[in-house]
Amino acid sequence: MMNPYMHEALTLAEQGRYSCAPNPMVGCVIVNRGQVVGRGWHQRAGEPHAEIVALHEAGTLAAGAEIYVNLEPCCHEGRTGSCVAALIAAKVSCVHLAVVDPNPLVAGQGLAQLRAAGIAVHIGCCADEALALNQIFFHYITQKQPFVMAKWAMSLDGKISVPSGQSRQLTSTAALEHSHRLRQAVAAILVGANTAITDDPQLTVRRKDLNLDPNLQPWRIILSAKGDLPHHLHLFNSPLASKTLVYTTEHSLPSWRQRIESQGVSVIIAPTTEEGMTDLLFVLKDLGEKHISSLLVEGGSRILTSFYRQALLQKIIIYLAPKFIGHTEALSPLRSLDLISEQSWQIEEMLFLAPDVCLTLKKVEKKICLPV
Ligand SMILES: NC(=O)c1ccc[n+]([C@@H]2O[C@H](COP(=O)([O-])OP(=O)(O)OC[C@H]3O[C@@H](n4cnc5c(N)ncnc54)[C@H](OP(=O)(O)O)[C@@H]3O)[C@@H](O)[C@H]2O)c1
Repeated sequence: MMNPYMHEALTLAEQGRYSCAPNPMVGCVIVNRGQVVGRGWHQRAGEPHAEIVALHEAGTLAAGAEIYVNLEPCCHEGRTGSCVAALIAAKVSCVHLAVVDPNPLVAGQGLAQLRAAGIAVHIGCCADEALALNQIFFHYITQKQPFVMAKWAMSLDGKISVPSGQSRQLTSTAALEHSHRLRQAVAAILVGANTAITDDPQLTVRRKDLNLDPNLQPWRIILSAKGDLPHHLHLFNSPLASKTLVYTTEHSLPSWRQRIESQGVSVIIAPTTEEGMTDLLFVLKDLGEKHISSLLVEGGSRILTSFYRQALLQKIIIYLAPKFIGHTEALSPLRSLDLISEQSWQIEEMLFLAPDVCLTLKKVEKKICLPV
């Protein structure tokens, strides 16, 4: 059975899902003689960590208390001070942590400092749940690149658009609302040049029940190697133009770049691949340096194929509409794959969003065989 205090810490942590990136979601519960005396969760980067919020609530009752936290407490000063130092100063007796923080600034040093101060440390309670909760953070902090998910809507015969290439809504309102929650949970959304032109998307979170703070809207990213996107696109003409990045190549015209930049958009020159495309590895590295911890690739077919072929996707979310397009020239999400056998996927979740279905696939990582 799941430990109820760690379960509560995980539930508290979850509250930071839409606001704390690129930091991890962390929750903390302080228990003194069987009574919960403090609770906290991390809301936003630069604001107090979960342990500090919980210690504040517990006050003097933190002395001798047990701490339940889903991630190893930090031991570096950062912007908000060391949580380990605060726990030691509060004279807690014991810390139960679910998983060690892989952040090189912590990575076991937090628990070592706690133990050196005479505080008992227990590791591993609800570890699987804690790993699943912060999979984006763990990927980002170890790879220094965003966790990449692809998302597309398709018909039952596997087509993502009608033959003319015109934009047409395939899925229902329920699927659309779900996809906006998905957008809300990522730091950036990416599309290719053709999708930017054909669909003229806004790439924003739009939810009926929520008027989202513009600061919390995800970054909008467009890959345009040739750099000939029209200036009138929604993406370049909104208050969020300043949260828009266009990755182009040196083949694009300087006058086009200047015009886009004058609209508030940032233009970044990326290296060109052999096929004349924008180098995706450069893009991901650059996004990582910009502290963008998660990326939702929304298409179209050429972009999805490029990410897939280079094995850069960690998850795929497919909205399946009960429709048939039935035309050989209609686009499939992935094209000309000869590497299909080299990547395995497993269905992680299946949601019925009547009348559509949403499948979440996770990549099956190859097992590493350690030498005996
Ligand atoms: N159903 C869905 O979920 C969904 C979602 C999105 C889009 N769509 C549909 O998909 C269609 C567009 O798909 P598409 O395949 O024609 O185009 P796309 O994937 O949207 O854009 C491809 C273009 O992006 C640029 N690009 C830059 N770097 C690239 C790279 N590394 N790899 C691939 N492309 C790169 C290139 O254009 P330049 O050389 O000109 O820069 C390339 O031609 C539209 O009809 C749209 O409605 C459907």
